[in-house]
Amino acid sequence: MHPNNQKTKIFLDSGDPAETKQALSVLGFLDGQTTNPSLIAKNPQTAGRKFLKEELLDFYRGVVKEVSSLIPEGSVSIEVYADNSTSAEEMLKQAREFNAWIPNFHIKYPTTTQGLKAAEISIKEGLRVNMTLVFSQAQAAAVYAATKGAKKGDVFISPFVGRLDDRGENGMDLIKNILKMFEQGDGHVEVLSASIRSLEHVIKTFELGADIITAPLKVLKEWKTSNKQTAVSNKLKPIPYQKIDLNRPWQEYDIQHELTDKGLEKFASDWNALIV
Ligand code: E4P
Repeated sequence: MHPNNQKTKIFLDSGDPAETKQALSVLGFLDGQTTNPSLIAKNPQTAGRKFLKEELLDFYRGVVKEVSSLIPEGSVSIEVYADNSTSAEEMLKQAREFNAWIPNFHIKYPTTTQGLKAAEISIKEGLRVNMTLVFSQAQAAAVYAATKGAKKGDVFISPFVGRLDDRGENGMDLIKNILKMFEQGDGHVEVLSASIRSLEHVIKTFELGADIITAPLKVLKEWKTSNKQTAVSNKLKPIPYQKIDLNRPWQEYDIQHELTDKGLEKFASDWNALIV
């Protein structure tokens, strides 16, 4: 059982090792950390700076190494650079480089056709993956199918709760629906509640029993100091459960989602804005 009696593992969502230190001192533990290009761009040490491509990668590597040394038993998610023209091969090349950075990493790939292709190969090569920018059950089913055969702990899926809430849909329903759909599976994919905005999201994630949550430092601090145990229901539009068979080839699921496309663009533009 977790030090805080939660089944759900707690990750910090941040591109700044100074926040890792703070989270460790506030919580007394941390099960992992997730990073992404936008979070790296928010690291105070990038403020007002421009980098050569190689320098920026060196910076990212430095961040990740420091985080990894602070939580050597945890998982650290490192995201590949991908825009809508990046091939699976190009993503794989980056992932194999991350392999030399730190031992305890999960590679974040976008849940797109190219990202899924890269994930399928990565799993066969013994690498761990965290499939990001997930906004639908069909995408979750595709991740499940593309990574079949992986060990438990080697595959995370990151549904983005807050970004669905932002457009009036109840993002927590997606977590609930994916967990329900995965009950028919073999349990090899862990559900990581991401894009967390509030204490309500944290409590609801615990109630649903998701495997992992990643949250900004501010929200983790709020959780630590709060006695709140039960989430209140919100007025967002419910997302209905879909009956989806998990036993199809991953290429057969309709994985298109406009928020995945938009998210990919934003990650790429935040990263490119740091480059000279
Ligand atoms: C973490 O893995 C995600 O990239 C992150 O939670 C996204 O959060 P945002 O929607 O607040 O950018």
